[in-house]
Amino acid sequence: MPDRQEPDTFAALEKREWADAGVAQSYARVFAEAADMVVPHLVEAVGARSGTKVLDLCCGHGNVTAGLVRAGAQATGLDFSPAMLDMARAAVPEAQFVEGDAMALDFEEGSFDAVTIGFGMPHVPEPPKVMSEARRVLRPGGRLAFSVWCGPEVDTALGYVFGAIAQHGAADIALPAGPGANDYADPALAFPALKEAGFADCSQSTVASKWQVSDPGAPYDYFRDGTARGGALLRPQPSECATAIRAAVVAKVLEKHGRGPNWQVPIPAVVTIAVAV
Ligand SMILES: C[S@@+](CC[C@H](N)C(=O)[O-])C[C@H]1O[C@@H](n2cnc3c(N)ncnc32)[C@H](O)[C@@H]1O
Repeated sequence: MPDRQEPDTFAALEKREWADAGVAQSYARVFAEAADMVVPHLVEAVGARSGTKVLDLCCGHGNVTAGLVRAGAQATGLDFSPAMLDMARAAVPEAQFVEGDAMALDFEEGSFDAVTIGFGMPHVPEPPKVMSEARRVLRPGGRLAFSVWCGPEVDTALGYVFGAIAQHGAADIALPAGPGANDYADPALAFPALKEAGFADCSQSTVASKWQVSDPGAPYDYFRDGTARGGALLRPQPSECATAIRAAVVAKVLEKHGRGPNWQVPIPAVVTIAVAV
């Protein structure tokens, strides 16, 4: 981690955190249990089948790419994290993987039938640029599908953790300015941006993704160890704040989901679909 006094940008924070092999591996090992539940919905949303050429942006360790390959698609995964790409290449040898930036794609116009983005949109500094790039590389009629975690207006581990940070976190630990974690789950933001980028027929559905945990504090650990934004807020906390944040998450899980000894903690997602005009 850089000195906390150094200026950081959202783009630099994202790049640094996801390049960290510990964060990447922890995301794949524990956090993505819920993201994996969204994979079949993304695959179906773009109609992937034998021969469909699909670009999987922000592919991470390749969980969505693997789903596309299982459906018979010809899949290319793109991510800017070499640590993620190492895991993806090992997990999905049938796919092609490319290191790159989702906001500036090195592919020809109209070269894909579909684009998927599993939980990548909140991590790019300018999501509309990703939408424009997705539109450029899609053929007319091609489909884009992307997932974003629901915001704290519903019961979600994400709300429990970020609510606890707001209540108990050290005041001087903050994120650089950037897009909100749940911005593009909101159709009022997503649909106009998609139309502006050259898409039509926008629709959304919700997936009841969740974590099965035997420790009610696990959501705190998952966000601290396996995410860029959560990790940047949680890892530098002084120990008394960290203890209070974790205790608040535990209390919320017990209040909302019973006394255990096992819990199904919801972390639902919205899948947005649009068709290239
Ligand atoms: C939350 S993970 C999602 C992984 C996987 N797609 C899933 O659905 O579980 C976000 C991924 O986006 C990647 N990422 C973030 N910003 C990016 C950018 N500008 N260009 C390419 N990849 C990016 C990160 O390296 C990370 O692998």
